[in-house]
Formats: sequence, C-alpha cells, structure tokens
Amino acid sequence: MEDRTSDRKNPIVDIENLKKSFQDNLVLEDVNLKIPKGENVVIIGQSGIGKSVLIKCMVRLIEPDDGKIEIFGQNIPTLGKDELNTVRKRIGFLFQGNALYDSMTVRENLEFPLIRNKLTKNKKDLEARIYEALDNVNLRKAIDLLPSELSGGMKKRIGLARTLILKPEIILYDEPTTGLDPITSKEISNLIINLQEKYNTTSIIITHDISCVRLTANIIHVLRNGILYKSGKYNELKKSEDPWINNFFN
Ligand SMILES: Nc1ncnc2c1ncn2[C@@H]1O[C@H](COP(=O)(O)OP(=O)(O)OP(=O)(O)O)[C@@H](O)[C@H]1O
Ligand SMILES: [Mg+2]
Repeated sequence: MEDRTSDRKNPIVDIENLKKSFQDNLVLEDVNLKIPKGENVVIIGQSGIGKSVLIKCMVRLIEPDDGKIEIFGQNIPTLGKDELNTVRKRIGFLFQGNALYDSMTVRENLEFPLIRNKLTKNKKDLEARIYEALDNVNLRKAIDLLPSELSGGMKKRIGLARTLILKPEIILYDEPTTGLDPITSKEISNLIINLQEKYNTTSIIITHDISCVRLTANIIHVLRNGILYKSGKYNELKKSEDPWINNFFN
C-alpha cells in the first residue's frame, strides 16, 4: 500500500485537541488526527470508548465541546447551517446498522439522497446513477426489494451504494462488517478498497473486525482513554509488545 506520509503536511482532515463529554462522562479528551487525501484510516478501540462519537463530531451529528476539526480547509465547529450542509454533501457516512428506510425499496432508498440534494438533472440521469451505484456493489438484481427482503450482507452493500451515490470525497464507515460472516465480511472490506481506488476517496473506518483492519488500513489509530493512544501500520501494531494493543491483534 502507498505511503502517504509526505502528504500529511497538507491533510484533508486536521483534528486538533478535540474534546467531548456527556455530563460527567468524558469521552474524547484530546484527539489529534491528520489525514492526507486518499488515505484509509482505521480506528479501533473497545466498545463504548468513543469511536462513533469521534466521527459523529466530524459532521456535527454530535456537537464537539472544544477543538479544531478542519475538513477541506474549513473548521467544522464554526460553520453556519448552510456552510455545514455544503460540507456534509462531500462527506459520506455509513452508519453502524445501515439506516436504510424500511418502507422504501432499494431503488427508493438510493433515489432519496439524490432527490433531497437536488442532484439529478432528469429521470434518465437518476436511473443511470442508481444502476451505477448498484453495479458498484454487484446488486442490480435487488433494485425492487425492500430492506426486510435483504440479507445482512446485502443491506451493508446497499448502505454502501447509498453512501457512494453522492460521490463523497471522504467516507466515514462505522463498523461496516459487524454481524457478517467472515467471508461476506472480507467481501465488504474488498469492496471498500475497490471503491476507494475507483473514486480516490479518503476513508475513516471504525471496526472491531481484524480482517477488515488488515485489508483496508493504510494506518491504524487506537482510541483509548479519550486520546489516540497508539498509531501504526498493521504489521507494526501486530508486533507491538504493549499487551493492551496486542490483545486486539491476537
Ligand atoms: N448522544 C449521546 N448522549 C449521551 N451519551 C452518549 C451519546 N452518544 C454516545 N454517548 C456515550 O459516549 C460513549 C462513547 O460512545 P460511542 O458510541 O462513541 O462508543 P463506540 O466506541 O462507538 O462503541 P461501539 O464499539 O460499541 O460502537 C459511551 O459512554 C456512550 O454512552
Ligand atoms: Mg460505535
């Protein structure tokens, strides 16, 4: 995998001293993270440690308490509503648990972000974008199904297709493979990599799945006690003598 260390001076995401508490629950104490364009960053850490909170702060689904979150050169916490919406259109979010609309077919689920953001010129264009999105995840055949008629792996794929349909420059993946069998999970990880290469997106991937870490990560950050406690490539962290880190990998 490419080393993008030299791009770190000019990051697409630049987080400094990010803090977030809920009442007396201090979740993020001092998070610092620079991400160069095109890098796949994986964040690991124990359940409840604040991984989802961190990426939700990046798009202000959760309001951070303090710190800088610069994305595309704009400081997210200081943006007004319209500016924030403009930035959000450039960032895809694959939620933990898909968040497909149960009463809508796959086609309607995919149409929704395009129509809401007024991003289609006409019916033909809409149709073409939906088929492109479905082909990206090899699920053209699912177009008229409801989410209840999809398997867990298919739901993840459709969630991914819906995230990609807006052609985001950054994608935040919250546990994209959780709950899937090892083979389907590897398929999803490979899909993430293929789509990342095809569209040159920058990705932040939260996962507990060590095969997903191995397949997708250019760099891994370990979140612990409110900070990014350790960072490194897969092979470096796997060899770590720190028992706490080692636990994740073995
Ligand atoms: N909206 C909220 N209001 C209050 N507390 C919250 C809120 N969202 C998250 N928290 C708290 O923040 C902490 C971190 O939660 P978070 O969802 O980020 O964990 P996580 O690392 O993503 O865990 P998991 O691996 O289980 O998904 C938890 O203690 C949680 O209860
Ligand atoms: Mg989470």
